[in-house]
Amino acid sequence: MSVGFGIIGAGTWGETHAKAYRAVPGAHLAGVADLDGDRAKKLAAAYGIPFATDSHAELLEREDVSAVSVATPDFAHKPLCLAAARAGKHILVEKPLATTVADAKEIIAACESAGVKLMVDFHNRWNPPFHKLKQAVQRGDLGEPQMLYLRLSDTLFVPTQMLSWAAKSSVAWFLASHTADLARWLCNADVKKVYSVSRSNVLAPQGIDTPDFFMTTLELTNGAVAVMENCWILSEASPVIFDFKCEFVGSKGHVNIDPSHHGMMQQFTEAGAEYPDVMVFPEVFGQHHGFAVASIRHFAECVLQDLPPLVTGEDGLKVTEVVCAILESAEKGEPVVLS
Ligand SMILES: NC(=O)c1ccc[n+]([C@@H]2O[C@H](COP(=O)([O-])OP(=O)(O)OC[C@H]3O[C@@H](n4cnc5c(N)ncnc54)[C@H](O)[C@@H]3O)[C@@H](O)[C@H]2O)c1
Repeated sequence: MSVGFGIIGAGTWGETHAKAYRAVPGAHLAGVADLDGDRAKKLAAAYGIPFATDSHAELLEREDVSAVSVATPDFAHKPLCLAAARAGKHILVEKPLATTVADAKEIIAACESAGVKLMVDFHNRWNPPFHKLKQAVQRGDLGEPQMLYLRLSDTLFVPTQMLSWAAKSSVAWFLASHTADLARWLCNADVKKVYSVSRSNVLAPQGIDTPDFFMTTLELTNGAVAVMENCWILSEASPVIFDFKCEFVGSKGHVNIDPSHHGMMQQFTEAGAEYPDVMVFPEVFGQHHGFAVASIRHFAECVLQDLPPLVTGEDGLKVTEVVCAILESAEKGEPVVLS
């Protein structure tokens, strides 16, 4: 029998969840909720979802919904995850799990006591070059992790046009959550010390009161050191809205990754230069592929086959701890040691 999945939050990324679930054999989209009921209806119409509502409670009451994706702004994750857990629904929550350590712990406890699965959508673990790097680290091909450089930044389009809620969050929650998870996962270690510096010279004067960037150093428990650059102020002249780079240096080898400007496909027309998406969720013969879809499909398969997800609530908690430390360090101007 087909298992029903629901989506809470019918915005940019909620649509990616719809693209993923509709292609999983044995799964179907059963309902969608968004505070903006018209947005829920629009997503339902586009993806053939039979139920749309402006009330997450109405969606969670439905017996034909076994699991939900929470794809709302980060500061809204906690109450929705708690409500979903109490309703007995398995949860795939977008990154970051929560924006305080106490909230992340509360979500994990609620899922444990309800006996539901909890996965945080750190989809870069399904991004092929990062997965290959992780395998090389695990085999020992690169020796012991020494240095890691991770750059994940967005053009100004993201905080000024794409996210209506940018000022209520920050590039640390939106992008450093991804790179902090990669740092922990690729180095096989936890973060023990964080030093971060931020500035607010570009967005704040435009009325978007959030830092422009965070330049962060992470010390990990195994001695590895990671540097992360995350900004929201790249020029919109860039042909891709994000810029992603990685250099991993081990004691026996190193790996460089360029997942954004890799040049696999470059298109030049009267509209200008474009690097069409071939990695994140490209459409091929009407089906969406790519790592953003793969992580969501993994969650669906875990629900269908009653397996534990590869990314856990604990991973989400650790990243929330790191991002909180980034914000604290940038605010105080000094390093923060994690307990
Ligand atoms: N945009 C991206 O490229 C991207 C990529 C990966 C992950 N994410 C993550 O996905 C999540 C959503 O981001 P987005 O870009 O889709 O934002 P968005 O603003 O496009 O959509 C969010 C939607 O959630 C709805 N919403 C807000 N509070 C709600 C509530 N309490 N109940 C029901 N609906 C509510 C809003 O009305 C809106 O339609 C965030 O956690 C973000 O970090 C976004």
